[in-house]
Amino acid sequence: MTANKILNSLYKVTKQVIKGLTLKERTEAVAKLCVEELNLKLCWIGKKQKDGSVSVFVQYPPEHPYPGKIKVRWDESEYGSGPTGKAIRFKTYQVLQDIESPQYKLWLSTAKKYGFKSSASFPIIADGEVFGALNLYANKKNFFNSKIIEAFVSFSEIIGIAFRNALFFEQSIDRLNKITALRNIDLSIISSFDIRVIYDVFINAAVNLLNIDAVSILVFDEATQELYFKVQRGLLNDEFKKQRIKIGQFIPGKAARERKILKVSQQEMDEPLRKMLMQMQGFEDYYVCPMISKGRLLGVVEFFQRKKLNHDEEWFNFLETLTGQISIAVENANILSEIQSAKEDLLLAYDQTIEALSFALDLRDKETEGHSQRVTELTVKIAEKFRIKGEKLRYVRWGALLHDIGKLGIPDNILLKPGPLSSGEWEIMKKHPEYGYNMLSRVEYLLPALEIPLYHHEKWDGSGYPRGLKGKVPLSARIFAVVDVWDALTNERPYRPAWSKERALQYIVSQSGIHFDPEVVKIFLEIMQNKI
Ligand code: C2E
Ligand code: SIN
Ligand code: SIN
Ligand code: FE
Ligand code: FE
Repeated sequence: MTANKILNSLYKVTKQVIKGLTLKERTEAVAKLCVEELNLKLCWIGKKQKDGSVSVFVQYPPEHPYPGKIKVRWDESEYGSGPTGKAIRFKTYQVLQDIESPQYKLWLSTAKKYGFKSSASFPIIADGEVFGALNLYANKKNFFNSKIIEAFVSFSEIIGIAFRNALFFEQSIDRLNKITALRNIDLSIISSFDIRVIYDVFINAAVNLLNIDAVSILVFDEATQELYFKVQRGLLNDEFKKQRIKIGQFIPGKAARERKILKVSQQEMDEPLRKMLMQMQGFEDYYVCPMISKGRLLGVVEFFQRKKLNHDEEWFNFLETLTGQISIAVENANILSEIQSAKEDLLLAYDQTIEALSFALDLRDKETEGHSQRVTELTVKIAEKFRIKGEKLRYVRWGALLHDIGKLGIPDNILLKPGPLSSGEWEIMKKHPEYGYNMLSRVEYLLPALEIPLYHHEKWDGSGYPRGLKGKVPLSARIFAVVDVWDALTNERPYRPAWSKERALQYIVSQSGIHFDPEVVKIFLEIMQNKI
């Protein structure tokens, strides 16, 4: 090995290091070059882990069994007493010109199997921070002369810079991904009323950014003090979905009661179904994180992980932040569903009140039982054909039920008169739509239901009352007018007997384009033909 050759290798390696490859790809190239150029048995780069262990980052030859067989640490423990551990701890290279040395006793028998005679370990350092060590093994004693050592001190400096840059870059990308994920959850919370969409975004973030293999969300039922299943991904068992876990019971229940993140291994899992699942699906670790919003427990998120991984503080912080986000979403969904059910309760109360009122109005009018119910049903049916739906349809219903409420303002002697009305009486009778309007407009929630009570006696040709509108009558009132006359004619009135259906139908048709909107009459006839 000439100095020239070493310098040449260094040059090649330097080029590799600055190429835009991933850190792994670059350091793999470094390891390969070291082994090939110097005719070494093995090169591996160990990464310093927070828990005191050293993990194999790359090695060459890639299939060499030695790195996988040995245990190496960098802390003060026995396994940290070898060259690698010392290189990392003391930030200086360690050379063993003969591995038959007491400080190598833990690894010697394994190393001898592969023909190692000498070894060297160079710390990988940048800006005073140690990332790991580059380890070399030669098949000769006293292999590592001063030139080689000098060259590798330089190598490891360059690798150190590469490590620092890559780590910095990876951390930046990782943080960016995490921020983006949180932003996505925020956006989905703001823009989606569908909690399932939010769950999906959350689970994607957990799977992709926390290296989680399965997730489940259990929500807290305050009434029973239990956690029950809401949503999951990656768990192949349905029993799970029916399960209820008491607060304080098992690991998930404990995390909920104590309001803190708990981590257990497969062996430590005390909940039988989860233990079985973890065994069956090869999940090694389990994390459970309580969902809390404004001091209230909302549930827990469970994370299952196949590989045993030692997560850093940043990982836990992200786990907490992510769970915090989903807690807000769950709380929003809870509030929304409370508002929705309160609104539904209120609407039901309105419905019932309006129906009762409508029933009372029919009684006073001496109309055939169920007049208002019948006209309402038929009006809604026609309105649906005109694609009126949702809230608008509800207001049509309410308007139809209350259409003649203004008759409350008409004295009995006129309303119940058995014969034709005098012109004075008729003037009074014609006021009932406006009376109705005056009554209902005092009730705010009935304002959108006013069209029918006010306009149900307007006519297509503009000859109706109270306004004599032409071309401006709302559709709901045009529909209702047909139905009201149909039902009035086919039923007995104090002032005349009931007409036959045929006669009433003929009358409606004859009034198409005069009293009634022809389009409405068309639909009305279609419905009647199907019915009769
Ligand atoms: P109502 O009895 O509910 O009738 C609603 C509408 O059906 C009437 O609105 C009218 O367009 C139609 N209609 C009802 N009966 C007849 C009928 O015998 N012939 C014809 N061609 N159409 C009929 P209208 O006319 O604006 O009346 C509004 C309300 O005034 C009626 O509601 C009823 O309460 C009252 N009314 C109308 N005519 C008389 C009457 O001769 N005697 C009495 N006592 N009340 C009447
Ligand atoms: C060590 O150096 O810590 C032992 C492993 C090795 O270098 O072979
Ligand atoms: C009213 O004010 O009478 C109701 C709406 C309208 O037709 O102007
Ligand atoms: Fe009327
Ligand atoms: Fe009526």
